[in-house]
Amino acid sequence: MTNIIKEAKNTVQAVAQMAMMKAVQLAPDSFIPGGRSDPLIREQHGNIGKPLSRLDGPLKVRGAATFAAEFPIDGMLYASVAFSNVVKGRISRIDVAAAEAAAGVTLVMTHLNAPKMASTPLLNSKPKAAGNIDLPIMQDDRVHWNGQPIAVVLAQTQEQADHATSLLRFEYDTEAAVTTFVEAKANGTDTGVMRGMPLKMESGDTDKALATAPYTVDISYTTPRQNHNAIELHACTVAWDGDTLRVHDASQLVAHTAWSLAQVFGLEEEQVRVTSPFVGGGFGGKCLWWHQVLAAAASKLSGRPVRLMLSREGVYRVIGGRGQTEQRVAIAAQADGTFDALVHTGTAAVSPQNPMPEPFILPVMSVYSSGSLKFDLQIAYVDTLPNTFMRAPGEAVGSFALESAIDELAVKMDMDPIELRLKNEPEKDPLTGAPFSQRDTEKAYRDGAERFGWSARAAPGARREGEWQIGMGVATATYPYYREPGGAARMTLSHDGAVTVEIAAHEMGMGTMTAHTQVIADRLGLALDKVHFQYGDSFQPGVVRGAGAQQTASIGASVIAAHRELVAELLKLAGNDSPIAGLTADEVGGIDGGLAKLDDPSRHESYASILARTQRDDLVVVGTAPPPLETQHWSMHSHGAMFCEVGVNAVTGEVRVRRFLGSFDCGRILNPKTAASQFRGGIIMGLGLALMEETQFDERLGRIMNPTLAEYHVPVHMDVPEIDVIWTDIPDPHAPMGARGIGEIGITGVGAAIANAIFNATGRRVRDLPITLDKLL
Ligand code: MOS
Repeated sequence: MTNIIKEAKNTVQAVAQMAMMKAVQLAPDSFIPGGRSDPLIREQHGNIGKPLSRLDGPLKVRGAATFAAEFPIDGMLYASVAFSNVVKGRISRIDVAAAEAAAGVTLVMTHLNAPKMASTPLLNSKPKAAGNIDLPIMQDDRVHWNGQPIAVVLAQTQEQADHATSLLRFEYDTEAAVTTFVEAKANGTDTGVMRGMPLKMESGDTDKALATAPYTVDISYTTPRQNHNAIELHACTVAWDGDTLRVHDASQLVAHTAWSLAQVFGLEEEQVRVTSPFVGGGFGGKCLWWHQVLAAAASKLSGRPVRLMLSREGVYRVIGGRGQTEQRVAIAAQADGTFDALVHTGTAAVSPQNPMPEPFILPVMSVYSSGSLKFDLQIAYVDTLPNTFMRAPGEAVGSFALESAIDELAVKMDMDPIELRLKNEPEKDPLTGAPFSQRDTEKAYRDGAERFGWSARAAPGARREGEWQIGMGVATATYPYYREPGGAARMTLSHDGAVTVEIAAHEMGMGTMTAHTQVIADRLGLALDKVHFQYGDSFQPGVVRGAGAQQTASIGASVIAAHRELVAELLKLAGNDSPIAGLTADEVGGIDGGLAKLDDPSRHESYASILARTQRDDLVVVGTAPPPLETQHWSMHSHGAMFCEVGVNAVTGEVRVRRFLGSFDCGRILNPKTAASQFRGGIIMGLGLALMEETQFDERLGRIMNPTLAEYHVPVHMDVPEIDVIWTDIPDPHAPMGARGIGEIGITGVGAAIANAIFNATGRRVRDLPITLDKLL
C-alpha cells in the first residue's frame, strides 16, 4: 500500500517547511510575534490570576444556556439515523415501505433520494477545512465502515423517528475488508505524516549506542482504541431559508464548519451561518462529521427545520476516536543516567479515508536530550471510521510508553526516576536547536515531589496495608504551545465606555469566556461588567479552533491586534485638547476606563469622554493576529510532573488511585479556578485511559461492540480521588498574556504515572492499556 508519489510530495512540502523554519529561527526576536513581551505579563493587581467563577455558570445551572439540541424552531422535525451493519460492500436492496408508513414520518432519506452533495474537505487540507472523512456522503450504494449512516428518517417526534428507523430493512453485497491490526500491518505500512511533515527521523547512531551503553531498555507497549464520550451528545438544529443555511451546532470550529458546509452544498461561505454558544464537552470530537451534513440535506429535502441529535450509540458509529497503537521505546544510558540513545517507533491504525495517525512520537521530539534520537511512526490501514483528535492526540498514549520506559530504566539503574529525568533535561530544543521560550520542568518536579511526599516512596512491593499493596509513581506531562493562523477580533467601544469583543471562538465548558473577559478588562482598564465577550458565531471575525490547547493564545493575539487598532483610533479622535494629546500608542495604556500615559497616569481621558468629544456613539475596529512565527523561533512547550499513589488489591487485582498531584509549568495561569478544573478534568480522563477506557471491537464483523456508557467504562465520581494541582506560574515571555495552553496537558503522563505506581506497589509491569484487574492477577 506504499504510495511513493504521496511520500515524495510530502517530502517536497517538508523541505519547503524546513527552509521557512530555518529563516524564522534566524530572524531577530523583534521581528517575531511575542518578540516584545505582552505588557499584561507584568500586570499583578488586575483581574488576571484571580479565581473568578464562571460567568456563564448561573445560566447553565438554571438550564438557560441553550445547547445545540435545544434551539427551538417552529415546525421542526426530528431526525434518526440508520447505520450499516456490514464493513464493506454495496447496499443491494432497501425496504423503506414500513418506515414511510409509520406514524409521524415525513421523510426517509437514503442514497436513492439524497440531494447532491460534495464531500467535506479534510481538516488541514485547506485553511478552513473541517471534515474528517474523505468520502461521498450518501451519494452511492457503497459502504466503507460498519456503522456508516445509510438512512435518515424525519418524523414529528424523536420516538417516531427512532421507531421508523428500526423498521428499515437493508440487504448488502459484502466485500472482503481489513478488520484486524495484524492483517493491516501485514498489508504494509506507510510513514505517518502530520501537517506535511513525515513522522520519521534519526540523528546520530542509535543502534550503536544501544549496543554499547552500560544500561539499556527496549520495550513494547500497546494502547487500544478509545471513543469520545462528551456528556453532550453530538447534535445540531438546522434550517434553510431559501438558499441560506442556519446551523446551531455543538462545535469546536464554527468558521471552519460554515465554510466546509458551503463547499458541500455549493454555496458561498456567507450563505451558511453556524453558531455554537455552548458545548457540553469537546475534547477534539466536536468537529464536522456527517450528522450536520445529513441534517442539512434532510432539511433541504423536506423543506422543514431539522434537529439531529446522535444517540450514544450513534456517537460511536459516526464520530471518530483515538486509534490503536503499538509502540517501541528503547533507551541507552551511561552509568550516570545520561541518555546516549532515545528511540520511539511503532505503528498506529488508521482508516483509508483519512490517514491521520495517533502521533505518539510527539513527546520524544522535545522532552529529553539524548546523544542520538530516532522516531518512526508507521500507519496501517484498517477499514473503520477514521480516527480523530482526542485530548492530547499523540502525547496522551505516547507519554504512556515513553514515561513507562524511563521508569523501567530507572528501576534497572536503581536510580530515582525524577533524577533520571532531570539528568536529561535539554538546554535547547533537542530536534530544532531553538531556544526554549520558557521551561522550568525542574521546578515542577521539585515542587511536586515536596508537596506529594515523594521521599516516602518505598521499594517495589514493600508497602502493604491489609489486602492493599501501595505504591507511588511519577511521569512527565508534556504538550506544545500552538497558535493557529487566522485569528481576528472585532472590538466595539460604546459611548458609555463599555467594550464588546467578538471572535468566532468556542466555549466547551473550560471557561474561555470568563478568562478572556478578565484579560480584556485588564488590557483596556475596564471593570469586568463593562466587558462583553461574544463568541461562537461563524459570522464573527476569526478562524479559530477550540483545539490543540491553543484557543487562548489565538484569542489573546487577536485581541492584542484589535486593541492596537483601537488605541490608534482613540489617539486620533482625542485630538489636541485631550490630556493625552501628542502621545503615541506605545506611551499609553488602558487605565481606569480610559487611556492614560503609562509613566504619568494623571494624563488620562476616559473612553466615554473621547467618544463624546467627537459625538460618536461607538468606535469599531477589527484586528488581525500576526502569523504564529513564535512557534518556530522558540521552542514552546508546557510540562508537568504527575505524581500518583495507588492501592492494588492483592486478592482481586483491583486498582484504586488513592492520590494524584499534577505540578504544571504552563506559563502564566489566567484564572486559577477554571485552570485547576481543566487540569483536573484532564487527569480524570487520564485515569480512564490508564485503567478503564477501551473500545471493544469485533474483528469478525469489524464492529464496535460496546457503544454505550454501560460497557465502555469511564471514571465515575467514586473512581476519582483527591486531585491536587499546582503550577510554577512563570510567564512565558513570548506568549500572549504569558500563558501557554492548558486544555490538553492534563491527560498526558497520567497513564505512565499510574502504571509506574502499580509497578511500585506490586513489582508487576503492565505494558498494555487499560490496566484492568485481569492483567494484575
Ligand atoms: Mo483537542 S484533542 O485538539 O480538542
